Amino acid sequence: MQVKKAIFPVAGLGTRFLPVTKAQPKEMLPVVDKPLIQYAVEEAYAAGVREMIFVTGRHKRPIEDHFDMTFELEVALEQANKRELLEVVRSVKPADMECIYVRQSQALGLGHAVLCAQRLVGNEPFAVLLADDLMIGEPPILQQMVAQFQEWRASILAVQEVPLEHTRRYGVVAGVSVSDRLIDVQRIVEKPSPELAPSRLGVAGRYILTPGVFHEIAAQPRGVGGEIQLTDGIASLLRREKVFAYQYSGKRYDCGSKDGWLEANVELALQHPELGEGFRAYLKSLAL
Ligand code: UTP
Repeated sequence: MQVKKAIFPVAGLGTRFLPVTKAQPKEMLPVVDKPLIQYAVEEAYAAGVREMIFVTGRHKRPIEDHFDMTFELEVALEQANKRELLEVVRSVKPADMECIYVRQSQALGLGHAVLCAQRLVGNEPFAVLLADDLMIGEPPILQQMVAQFQEWRASILAVQEVPLEHTRRYGVVAGVSVSDRLIDVQRIVEKPSPELAPSRLGVAGRYILTPGVFHEIAAQPRGVGGEIQLTDGIASLLRREKVFAYQYSGKRYDCGSKDGWLEANVELALQHPELGEGFRAYLKSLAL
């Protein structure tokens, strides 16, 4: 069973990043030289996904334009013989990748956003990637998860240990260890207070889900914050199917928050093949 489709929910309001998100989705924020959404799409592509489904909100255009062909730009680069840049532009959407857009007309929550893509996904397992969680790993995080999915044929949630005082920011899981990095999930709770958190394992923005979850989300009342929560749908799914949490190997930057986004820019700039050296020297010169 292959994971061929991925959902990218990009319809959130992005209030933590105002005013920059007033007229553009936070997923178009650049980290060094690429928008967040491109990192997530590249991660999905590397994991074998070829059908990218974007659940868009008010700011649909910038994302659609980014993954569209830019005819005038390509002609201009070709005429100027700027081959490398032409390649950079063309590689944003490889020929065998399909982009599909569906609208979430009201930001009713992540679960609701996922449900908006149900008809496009159909009866197949699928991935969900939250592009504001920038995940860097080798192999890429979703690829690590696909390997687990192929072994267990069940939903896989990416998790990481989070500080106890941060449990309110995450869905938190608890369960039984199956191996070094894998937990058979018994419970999942959305944004618990530290006293009520069943563990310190917080869900990061990568999921592989079986289609049974759609039915469970559709049956959910509004949860934490008045939103239809994906976590609540997964909690219901647990009663019928196995769900595993996978402690991925790699690093996550919470680019939905200003400090996480700044950290990502600094660290990725330092690793950048062209910018890294000069940027390191610059940071040193600041002698903080
Ligand atoms: P967040 O919880 O970060 O919410 O959403 P948000 O509204 O985008 O940002 P803040 O908290 O106001 O700053 C997690 C992911 O789910 C998507 C967001 O775009 C983001 O990728 N999302 C959330 C939707 O697509 N629709 C929703 O109704 C809610």
